[in-house]
Amino acid sequence: MKDWALITGASRGIGQAAAARFQKEGWSVLNLSRGESGVPGVVDLRVDLGSGDWEPRVEAALREHLGPSPRRVTLVHNAALYEHDDALALTAEHLRRVLEVNLVAPAVLNRLTRPYLREGSSILYVGSTLSEKAVRNNATYVTSKHALVGLMRATCQDLVGTGIHTVCVCPGFTDTELLREHLGDKPELRASIASKSTFGRLITPEEIAHVLYFCATTATVNGAVLHANLGQVET
Ligand SMILES: NC(=O)c1ccc[n+]([C@@H]2O[C@H](COP(=O)([O-])OP(=O)(O)OC[C@H]3O[C@@H](n4cnc5c(N)ncnc54)[C@H](OP(=O)(O)O)[C@@H]3O)[C@@H](O)[C@H]2O)c1
Repeated sequence: MKDWALITGASRGIGQAAAARFQKEGWSVLNLSRGESGVPGVVDLRVDLGSGDWEPRVEAALREHLGPSPRRVTLVHNAALYEHDDALALTAEHLRRVLEVNLVAPAVLNRLTRPYLREGSSILYVGSTLSEKAVRNNATYVTSKHALVGLMRATCQDLVGTGIHTVCVCPGFTDTELLREHLGDKPELRASIASKSTFGRLITPEEIAHVLYFCATTATVNGAVLHANLGQVET
C-alpha cells in the first residue's frame, strides 16, 4: 500500500516544491495542473481547474492510480489565481472565474477524494497572509483566501471522529512566478517586499513545502490556520 499526495498546481512554485518533497519522503505524487510538474516520477494529470469539465477525468484518475485502498492520502489545495481587482468594481463573470479555481475546485476535489481518505490522511489548504487580512486591489484573492479558511474549518468539523486532519497553511512572500508576476520586473520592489519579513528575505518554495509536509504528518495541528511567513514587519 502506498501513501499518495494529490497536489493541485504542482507545475511550478510551491506546488512543485511540495511534489518534490513528498516524493523524496517516499510518497507517490499526482499533480493536477495544466502544465507538467517536471519532477521525475510525479504523475501528471493535465487539467484546467477553471474549466468546469474536469470532474470525470479526475474521478477516473483517482480510481486508476489510488486503487481501492491507499495507506494515506494528503490532498493539497495549492493552485490559485492571483489577480488585481477592486471590491467595488467586480463583475460576476470575473468573480466566478477566480472562485472556480481558488474555492470551487478545492470543494469538489474534497468530495471526489473522500472515498480514498483513511485514518492518517489529511486535507491541506494553501491560504495566504491575505487569508486573515486585506490589502487594496486584491479583492477576489483576499475573498477566496478568507473563504478557504472557512472551508478548512468546516472540513475539520465534518471529519470529526475519522482520524483525518486538515490545516490551512498561509505562506508569506515566497519567491515564485506568482510573486514575480505580481511585482513585475522591478528589483527595488522585490527588495522592499523582502524587507517586510523580519528576516529581510523572501521565503523559498522549499520552505513552504517543508511546512506542508510537516502538516501532512502531524495530526495535532488539525483545524489550525498556520502562518508561515518568517514574521512580518508591522508598520
Ligand atoms: N508566492 C507567494 O508569495 C504566495 C504567498 C501566499 C500564498 N501563496 C499561495 O501559494 C499557492 C501557490 O502559489 P505559487 O506562488 O507557487 O504560484 P505559481 O508559481 O503561480 O503556481 C501556481 C500553480 O497553480 C496552477 N494553476 C493556476 N491556474 C490553474 C488552473 N486553472 N488549473 C490548474 N492549475 C492551475 C499553476 O499550474 P498551470 O499553470 O500549469 O496550470 C501553477 O502550478 C497559491 O495558492 C498562492 O495563493 C503564494
